[in-house]
Amino acid sequence: MVSRHVVLLGLFGLLLLLDCRLDQSSHDCSMEGRVALYEQRIEPLFLEDRPKSCNQCHLSGIDLEMFLKATPCQTMACLDHRGLVDLKVPEQSLLLAWVDRADPASPLITAEVLAEEREAIHQWIDMTASCGHCGDFGDDPCGDEKPQSDDCASNSEDPVLSFSPSELHGCTDLALEKGFYEAFYVNRFRCFPCHFSDVSEIEEAPKWLQVGACEPASLATLREVEARGYVDTEHPMESLLLTKPLDEEQGGVEHGGGPKFNVGADPFYDALTVWLKRYAECRD
Ligand code: HEC
Ligand code: HEC
Repeated sequence: MVSRHVVLLGLFGLLLLLDCRLDQSSHDCSMEGRVALYEQRIEPLFLEDRPKSCNQCHLSGIDLEMFLKATPCQTMACLDHRGLVDLKVPEQSLLLAWVDRADPASPLITAEVLAEEREAIHQWIDMTASCGHCGDFGDDPCGDEKPQSDDCASNSEDPVLSFSPSELHGCTDLALEKGFYEAFYVNRFRCFPCHFSDVSEIEEAPKWLQVGACEPASLATLREVEARGYVDTEHPMESLLLTKPLDEEQGGVEHGGGPKFNVGADPFYDALTVWLKRYAECRD
């Protein structure tokens, strides 16, 4: 009986000790301590062959890496600036909520992968919450250069060919986002320059077409298109995204930019209708 207590006490003491050491290491606010945590926990998340929770729903290019700045300190300052981390209540950070969205039952994004990712990000936020930011990056720690139309120029030639309707199956966020990218975003130069967010001439045209790195800009454009109600989920063929640039004689509505489609001989028009119908089926 006695010996059992001794063992238990011993275990308890060990746990306390361990706990203190863990506690200390997660609050090692020296630059070395910060760098060590970043290198050990965060950097491995960027390894090429490591599946990322975000890519269960988003195209590659949309993950933690899109927020990387010149140094880890600046990256964290930028995440804070964008409201993606909550340094008062780390557990409530939006970034963690995003990781938690992923379904741990998928083949690549296993529960273990998710737990590791979450825990690493959580520790990094915790450390910053208790140590404070490491550096002053002024009013705009993200220091983003203004995104421009040609940041994503790679797909400005012969774009429609990348769209294959047969690959557009399922109603997952990823499928719809990929479809929008391939059916609309790669063809967006047909709407240039009027609706591009970085172009200020042609004031009468609403600036819903977001620019910047390809995948994030495509996603931001999709959100904008949804928010502005350009997609009609009940009558997809009446979506403004389609009818505005459509010739009035072919069923379009009056458009400040004039007709842009050539129905019957226009792969862009065909691709967009396929995506719109699919989106409507999925969201209705
Ligand atoms: C289960 C699916 C899912 C996962 C996992 C997911 N997202 Fe999202 N994400 C969405 C959906 C749906 C939206 C649309 C807007 C919303 O619901 O917030 C979105 C919106 C976004 C946006 C656009 C925000 C805006 O409106 O401007 C960004 C950026 C983003 N997610 C990045 C990420 C990152 C980074 C991760 C991984 C850490 C991630 N997402 C994980 C589904 C997901
Ligand atoms: C030459 C300039 C120009 C081009 C190119 C152009 N548009 Fe427009 N577009 C306008 C103007 C101006 C308006 C605002 C007047 C109106 O509603 O017709 C507009 C309005 C719209 C609207 C409605 C906006 C709203 O909030 O009511 C949509 C949707 C739209 N355009 C889609 C497109 C698409 C898709 C393309 C490319 C295939 C395109 N436009 C190409 C000038 C242009």
